[in-house]
Amino acid sequence: MRWTFGLTCATALVGIVPSSQAADSSVYHDAETGFTFSQYNAQYAIGRTIAFRIALPSPIPANSAYDAVIQVVAPVDVGWTGLAWGGTMVYNPLSVSWANGNSAVVSSRYATGHATPTTYSGATYELFKTGTHVNRTHWQYTAKCSGCTSFTSSGGRSTILNSKGANSLAFAYSGTRPSNPSSNTSSFVVHDVTGYWNHDFSTAGNTAFTSLVAANI
Ligand code: HEM
Repeated sequence: MRWTFGLTCATALVGIVPSSQAADSSVYHDAETGFTFSQYNAQYAIGRTIAFRIALPSPIPANSAYDAVIQVVAPVDVGWTGLAWGGTMVYNPLSVSWANGNSAVVSSRYATGHATPTTYSGATYELFKTGTHVNRTHWQYTAKCSGCTSFTSSGGRSTILNSKGANSLAFAYSGTRPSNPSSNTSSFVVHDVTGYWNHDFSTAGNTAFTSLVAANI
């Protein structure tokens, strides 16, 4: 009887439980750089969001590391913001960025505890000339990252993010600018807000990835 009951319940649930976690991102085509991004608007205050956009090469061979283009668009009251590629503060590449004059700075960081992340040579960035600027309301940067989508996580485990599905990412926001904004090794104070989402990488593919990088750099 118990078995029948369990099976009946399980069958009834199939219809209402999603088979996989739905992604929170949507597709965004950027006319300025020509990339198609998968984007998530991370809310850090009521009615205020930071856009985190990711573009990938296509196709990507299975089980191999791959580059990504990241574009972040932040309102001018954002002092610094960070993207955590593994979805937590610790043991994954952190792309930390802030405005600097008419441009922006991206700083490669990694944390093994809940303290200021140190600089990280496992991920390198090429900042694009196109897609990196500041106006009255927003600052933004666009960069190619090598080493953001694969990394050594907690316990020495090798991780390659799933280019064909959703990955759990996280962000941090601070209203305070870094102490030395012109330097990518600047220190900065702790975030005011953090958050998580599921980012669909399967919609981020660009068959012209290499030529688009060359055109924007
Ligand atoms: C001055 C630099 C930083 C300090 C001192 C710091 C400190 C902390 C502390 C103490 C917590 C725990 C909060 C709690 O448990 O309630 C935390 C959580 C968190 N931090 Fe940071 N943080 C810093 C920079 C960053 C950066 C650059 C990121 C990049 C995305 C980040 C992402 C997160 C996230 C996502 C959490 C949520 C818990 C987790 O996933 O581990 N933090 N941070």
